[in-house]
Amino acid sequence: MLWTGDRLTYYIYGESHSDYIGVSVEGLPIHEIDIDRLSAFMDRRRAKNEVYSTKRIEPDVIEFVSGIETSTLTGDRFEARIKNTNVKSSDYNDLEGKPRPSHADYASYLRYGRTDYRGGHEFSGRMTAPLCIVGGIAKQILEDRGVKVLAYVHSIGEVEDISYKDSTVTSLDIENMLSRGDWAMTRQEDMLSLISLVASEGDSVGGTVEVIVEGLAGGYGGAMTDGLEGKISSLLYSIPAVKGVEFGAGFDISRMRGSEANDELHFVDGEVVSYTNHAGGINGGISNGMPITARVAFRPTPSISRQQRTVDLIERVDTTISIKGRHDACIVPRTLPIVESAVAIAILDSMEEDKICK
Ligand SMILES: Cc1cc2nc3c(=O)[nH]c(=O)nc-3n(C[C@H](O)[C@H](O)[C@H](O)COP(=O)(O)O)c2cc1C
Repeated sequence: MLWTGDRLTYYIYGESHSDYIGVSVEGLPIHEIDIDRLSAFMDRRRAKNEVYSTKRIEPDVIEFVSGIETSTLTGDRFEARIKNTNVKSSDYNDLEGKPRPSHADYASYLRYGRTDYRGGHEFSGRMTAPLCIVGGIAKQILEDRGVKVLAYVHSIGEVEDISYKDSTVTSLDIENMLSRGDWAMTRQEDMLSLISLVASEGDSVGGTVEVIVEGLAGGYGGAMTDGLEGKISSLLYSIPAVKGVEFGAGFDISRMRGSEANDELHFVDGEVVSYTNHAGGINGGISNGMPITARVAFRPTPSISRQQRTVDLIERVDTTISIKGRHDACIVPRTLPIVESAVAIAILDSMEEDKICK
């Protein structure tokens, strides 16, 4: 799976049940990386033993293949990989030819003619681990340039928490919350209760993640297809299970009047800032110096143990399935480093490419 930005290009390879998954990247700047911090970042994505996550627990140790010498990126092609250590294909024996509703199984059958859905192949959430290697590196480079990328869970099902966008949460609050190993600001317990309930019913639940970028100067991006929103969205939509992305006030802006939606400007200490940030820090595809704010909608995990209707593509008859494999009742808490990765890569790509005039 290849992503080509303006300066960065990466290729994620392998699949859920192959020996290795990995990533090869071109265009990273020469930079010293804190490997312990990168491993800690990867650890945030990993399933542990939570009520909501898969029982497929793996250490996700990064093996550096090229492009790094004693923790400094050399500026050459960078490659790193992770060994898949906990592959259990037998969970999928009953699924042969029976696509899981709303997973990639049926669509990938149309594309590749596959009837074997072992582990979800390259459509597995596991493929986000290599994305987090590049994203964790991009995040460190951005941090050293004074740019923070932070994500938190804003809602699970109907349980909604406070938001950075309402100015009730600061980036420091988010950092403190994340450093405690938490993932939501004030309603994590309620969210966990909902996930437990849903899991006990053999079901799954989705949610939203909010992500902010603070410290990015105005002037990055460009018009139309050069726009920052498009670049960030393309990477966010590459994350399996993402079904919506909005910036600033997002869909709600369609219900506002211009006088309410417009972010009026003023000077603060000689800098132009806006009183509000309904545009989410981007106008005309270009960063305007205000924090970038985006919200990402994750669908409920498609694999559920409840019985569901599907088809048998081999016998060509209607049938039912109940999915026994290991899966998350809710993937949302584990997606924070993945979302931060997608956004950090997009921002780094723009910073490496664009020259700011003002
Ligand atoms: C971290 C992560 C873990 C996931 N785990 C599962 C899982 O255990 N079971 C499942 O059915 N889907 C899981 N998914 C979601 C599917 O991969 C995804 O829904 C599927 O590929 C179809 O893609 P779409 O939802 O973007 O259309 C996971 C996604 C992520 C990001």
